[in-house]
Amino acid sequence: MSSAGPQGLQAVPEALQDRESWLDPFDWYRRMREEAPVRYDPGRRTWDVFRYEDVKRALDDDETFSVDPREADDFEEPEQPGAGFILDTMLFEDPPRHGELRGVVDDWFQPRTLADREPHFRELAGELLDDAVDDSGEMDVVADLAYPFPVTVIAQLLGIPPSDRGRFKTWSDTLVAAASDDEGADEFTERQQQSQMEMAQYFLEAVEDRRENPRDDLLTVIATEESDTGGRLSHEEALGTCILLLVAGNITTTNLLANAVRSFAEADAVRFEELRGDERALSNAIEEVLRYRSPVQAMSRVAVEDVRMGGETIEAGDRVVVWLGSANRDERRFDDADTFDPDRSPNQHLGFGHGTHYCLGAPLARLEAEVGLSELLDRVENVRLADATLQPTRSSFVYGVESLPIRYDER
Ligand code: HEM
Repeated sequence: MSSAGPQGLQAVPEALQDRESWLDPFDWYRRMREEAPVRYDPGRRTWDVFRYEDVKRALDDDETFSVDPREADDFEEPEQPGAGFILDTMLFEDPPRHGELRGVVDDWFQPRTLADREPHFRELAGELLDDAVDDSGEMDVVADLAYPFPVTVIAQLLGIPPSDRGRFKTWSDTLVAAASDDEGADEFTERQQQSQMEMAQYFLEAVEDRRENPRDDLLTVIATEESDTGGRLSHEEALGTCILLLVAGNITTTNLLANAVRSFAEADAVRFEELRGDERALSNAIEEVLRYRSPVQAMSRVAVEDVRMGGETIEAGDRVVVWLGSANRDERRFDDADTFDPDRSPNQHLGFGHGTHYCLGAPLARLEAEVGLSELLDRVENVRLADATLQPTRSSFVYGVESLPIRYDER
């Protein structure tokens, strides 16, 4: 887990390299918040920031902390042409261009727009669960619901036909994964770049098709905003936006759903039952999952001017990783920070980031979690975690498990 991809997020600190510590990084975070809240890691040539106030400040101050990895002194251009499309997106652009890129697709992710599609999302989740829930009393939350549901939703919003969705899942997983022990860093980077090239080629053709045959989908919005059609997006930005939308919302939402079931089942089966039919309680509990087991643990920035933080001087050109997962457990900010409290209020977690780059897909992710979990609760009761060794998600910044077997009683 050591190669540095274009996102600059691939390098994992020494302390989190093994299975156990990546499943439970929270003790390490706590120690770091006390002993070295802002520290330089020479191995990764990166600063790490652990406390809530510092993380929030870095996310707030986009004049000092850029999202553009190309600002880093040690940035290396990806070798393969096209491998850097993802860099031409809102996620890696600072204002003012950031706002223009986000503005192209913003409307599609507003709660009021999504509300129209909710019945359809519910149907999709229902179909997956009808296949999974039976008198065996066992299912794998990840394989049966959390994995297929978000990719189907975003593929549908984009306008990707069902027959192509399997390929997309593989591409998008490769892009956010970390290298494994049995694959070298170079081989892994090559595989990631290959996936990005294949996706780019696919989207190129799809965008061209939508220019001729417009439909009610996101690909059409992007196609009509492409510069060839007189729109606001360069060719690379149009492709990058397609790839970003597909990748950003898959593994993240998968892990929100699985982390939710894991946290609810561990906390107290009775509390889990109480969420059935109580929309407010369920959405509050989902916010607590976003805090307690944040699907995205870390984000990357580059200092563009010298800045003092936590008694240290971060210099212009240095890379900085802000640990959202640690900020969300900071006892300076949250009472009983290490306790999962589904009724917690207020709950100003940073699970979707903060400031300019606050997650575009947050309303969609929340809706998917509410729909997926309420459909599950409609079908099962007495949910317990099955006896299994949990494996952490293969990613350097996404927190969750590869599979989550549960036992339940059918309702
Ligand atoms: C940005 C988390 C789901 C699309 C972000 C950021 C975080 C985040 C922390 C901030 C990045 C930064 O500051 O550098 C999550 C989590 C999700 C989730 C935890 C699920 C539980 C989604 C979904 C989509 C999406 C479903 C859409 C399909 C985006 C985009 C950005 C973003 C486009 C970039 C926004 C910008 O730069 O203005 N997300 N995300 N995310 N997310 Fe999400």
